[in-house]
Amino acid sequence: MITEIRSKQKKYSESKSIEDKKILGQYFTDSPIAEFMSSLIDVKSLNPNRVRLLDCGAGHGILTASSAIFLLKNGVNRVEATLYELDEKLIYNLVNVLDKVKALFSKENKIFIYTIINDDFVTLRPDLISQLQFDVSVINPPYFKYSVKESIYSKKTSDLFKGDPNIYASFIAITLSAMADQGQVVVISPRSFLNGLYFKGFRKYLLTNSKLELIHIFKSRKDVFVDSDILQENIIIKMVKTLDEYSEIKVSTSNGILDLEKSKITAYPKKIIIDTSNTEDIIRIPESKKDYDVLENAEDFSSTFSNEGYFISTGPVVEHRTIMHLTSDHNNKDHVPLIKAHNVLINGIVWDGNHKKDLSFKLISNYDKHLVANNRYVLLKRFTSKDERRRLVAGVYHPIINLKHVGITNKLNYIGRKDSLLSKDEALGLAVLFNSEFMDNYYRCISGNTQVNATDIRIMKIPTREQIILLGKYAANFPVLEYKTIELIIKKHINDRI
Ligand SMILES: C[S@@+](CC[C@H](N)C(=O)[O-])C[C@H]1O[C@@H](n2cnc3c(N)ncnc32)[C@H](O)[C@@H]1O
Repeated sequence: MITEIRSKQKKYSESKSIEDKKILGQYFTDSPIAEFMSSLIDVKSLNPNRVRLLDCGAGHGILTASSAIFLLKNGVNRVEATLYELDEKLIYNLVNVLDKVKALFSKENKIFIYTIINDDFVTLRPDLISQLQFDVSVINPPYFKYSVKESIYSKKTSDLFKGDPNIYASFIAITLSAMADQGQVVVISPRSFLNGLYFKGFRKYLLTNSKLELIHIFKSRKDVFVDSDILQENIIIKMVKTLDEYSEIKVSTSNGILDLEKSKITAYPKKIIIDTSNTEDIIRIPESKKDYDVLENAEDFSSTFSNEGYFISTGPVVEHRTIMHLTSDHNNKDHVPLIKAHNVLINGIVWDGNHKKDLSFKLISNYDKHLVANNRYVLLKRFTSKDERRRLVAGVYHPIINLKHVGITNKLNYIGRKDSLLSKDEALGLAVLFNSEFMDNYYRCISGNTQVNATDIRIMKIPTREQIILLGKYAANFPVLEYKTIELIIKKHINDRI
């Protein structure tokens, strides 16, 4: 039956344009995922004579159907499902699916009843309009950003959490709010809420009101949804609504959909997964034992990037907005180099005007607001392609003689000291640190995004300033740095375990 729903979803999806699907966030769940998600329901802690199920954006009903069937197979006698779906064109299919589920239950003298609410889950919040609470919710909420100024969804969940990061956060928070005590919520959603500033309030809400029991990650991003035009990295999480303390979180991994049944599950101490050492409450995912060791070792560092006195900012030059300033004619005194991503190499910045992508920045009208002081910085790439070996790539920029300013593109982050200037040794030490495999793995546990965010760097644990300077002093003995050399330097000077 679940496979039958899947083909209906495919047909429906193919009949809609990418733009239309985006408006309602219509990315339907594939059948193996629906079955895996349902299998995360803990039936033992439910009352078999009444399980109240909530589906917040039901689509064709694949998640309700697979959850109900899972409950039926595991001895539940009665399921009462409430389903929200805004798209009226889906309701016919949805009724059809739910009637079939009902028939399956009847065949075994069990009861399945359902209510479809063809309305908006966020503006017609079940936790506000009804007394009914739910025991289980297995959901794939829509996701899209909305305008804080104009959208009907703006501030609709401000009683639950601060901010308006994405519609999926509103759906998950409302669902959790509508659950009874010990209610179980299983969600497939983008990974983006685990870190990053915009989701801070949402994370806090989840972590305060529920026990994060399990996080599942797909090592490969492809084919998670029926519509494979999705490039977001997705995760599945299971939460239980409770205020009880807990000490472990399970991390489950599979390569993709096909090996979901053989997922590897490992329990880790909660304190390694959730970083409570600052106000961000970032949720980190070790994909392997090696990643876990990286996180554990990082915890041994006593300080963070920000507390150790460093700043990180995004380069101010946005190329498409400063076209009038940009030139590839480099023989003019009233120009300064614009440092771009291709100029950043682990051995330092190379800008000589000879690379075809090299650009100069003309010092004409209001140029200074686009430029930074010509000081020593460590430049850290903000974007690396998925195929690139490293997520973190850093190089030292040494000030060019006789320049007051220099241009740095917004495709780069630049790092310096908050209260003084970086010395050669300190800058080199930082670059070596960021180019190490350890920091790269550590960063990957924090963020699934190929974009390197300054917010995530600021809270990373790092060695002390003294250690960083020593690292730079030692690295300066090597005329050329290779990744191999960097590993040796790091092992010798920072931690022989990493
Ligand atoms: C990501 S799809 C998931 C559908 C289905 N649960 C599944 O797993 O295949 C999200 C669904 O939510 C519906 N939806 C979008 N916005 C909604 C809203 N504000 N209220 C209720 N449903 C909504 C969409 O039409 C879509 O069917």
